[in-house]
Amino acid sequence: MEKLKIGIIGCGYWGPNLVRNFSACPLTEVAAVCDSSPARLEKFRQTHGHLKLVGSLDELLDLPLDAVAIATPVTTHYSLGKRCLEAGLHVLIEKPLAASVEEARALVELADRHGQILMVDHTYLFNNSVRKIKELVEAGELGDLYFIDSIRINLGLFQHDINVIWDLAPHDLSIADHIIGAEARSISAWGCAHADRGIEDIAYVNVDYGDRMLANFHVNWLSPVKIRQMIFAGSRKGLIFNELNATEPIKVYDRGIELGEAAEGAEGRHKLLVGYRSGDVWSPHVEPSEALQGMVTHFAECIRDGTTPLSDGRMGLRVVQQLEAANRSVRAQGGRVVLSQGAYASAKTDASSNRPGEWDQDRGGRPARTRRDHSLLR
Ligand SMILES: NC(=O)c1ccc[n+]([C@@H]2O[C@H](COP(=O)([O-])OP(=O)(O)OC[C@H]3O[C@@H](n4cnc5c(N)ncnc54)[C@H](O)[C@@H]3O)[C@@H](O)[C@H]2O)c1
Repeated sequence: MEKLKIGIIGCGYWGPNLVRNFSACPLTEVAAVCDSSPARLEKFRQTHGHLKLVGSLDELLDLPLDAVAIATPVTTHYSLGKRCLEAGLHVLIEKPLAASVEEARALVELADRHGQILMVDHTYLFNNSVRKIKELVEAGELGDLYFIDSIRINLGLFQHDINVIWDLAPHDLSIADHIIGAEARSISAWGCAHADRGIEDIAYVNVDYGDRMLANFHVNWLSPVKIRQMIFAGSRKGLIFNELNATEPIKVYDRGIELGEAAEGAEGRHKLLVGYRSGDVWSPHVEPSEALQGMVTHFAECIRDGTTPLSDGRMGLRVVQQLEAANRSVRAQGGRVVLSQGAYASAKTDASSNRPGEWDQDRGGRPARTRRDHSLLR
């Protein structure tokens, strides 16, 4: 098969990584790189003089291409993605898919209508540690999942069009979406802006997946230390994923509680007997590999085979809906935003229980986790 001709749009911080990985992939070749900034293009030319470089989307779309990869600021994803889909190209867009649910939904519908592949670079789905965690969860190693607790903090690269939630939480939300396989039911988020008054640089995002499964994601551009750690814990075991530990990124803990028979306490009150189990700690082997190489290869294979990407437009839309809900919650001082049941229609703030930390007891208990039904389009 002839190599797929890929056009890369945006050669700022992330675009060159796509160029490197599409160049290394046996299924693809980089046909051209486009950037609207002459200065960026000139800088890129110094190290990539052998590639065709163009300064506008019109020039890029004049070339014979099979697909494009878009690595530009989030606010430009929709307009660039729309034009490329309309030009008949398969499209890979950097995370997050778009700057609003409305835009993300329009891109999904457009790709569906034209029968083209729309994929979002949720890179962590192609990380071997995340793959291993999914394997362990699906094999029932952890039992019923109780919670995910994640810390993704650093002295971060400040973005000018999005806050820290839109920059970093797509990683956590996509990993959770992939591993839990259930819809987020509601979101509460706290955030604060220090450097730029309008752009939160610290946030805590709390997601309720139903069925007593909670997740908390701490994202932060102001931390003096870099931490990238996720804890997954369930009824049988727990594990910690420390991305910065190159040799043992995952540790599984055979630790948890055992519930005994309920007994009468001294004052005649009902008392639950809780025992603690402390067993082995082990570290599964994780083959080192570059997640981005897996991601670009998967994109090329989906085009070649006509299959749906793991991180397709629908997943991108689910993530954007949660980001939008988190932003809305931050504006409401942590007020819980309820995501529509069943379908990912537009999120609405539940004004009747707009208090952080208050879940669904007020509505007669927590319904079972809702499996995805993919009916997110109107
Ligand atoms: N998957 C990951 O782990 C990961 C990591 C970093 C960034 N990203 C994503 O990559 C995207 C780009 O981020 P970045 O940090 O590289 O940004 P950046 O600002 O460093 O680079 C963006 C580039 O796009 C160019 N550009 C802007 N508008 C354009 C247009 N209309 N046409 C052509 N070029 C245009 C700019 O001139 C710039 O060179 C974002 O969506 C970001 O979230 C993903």
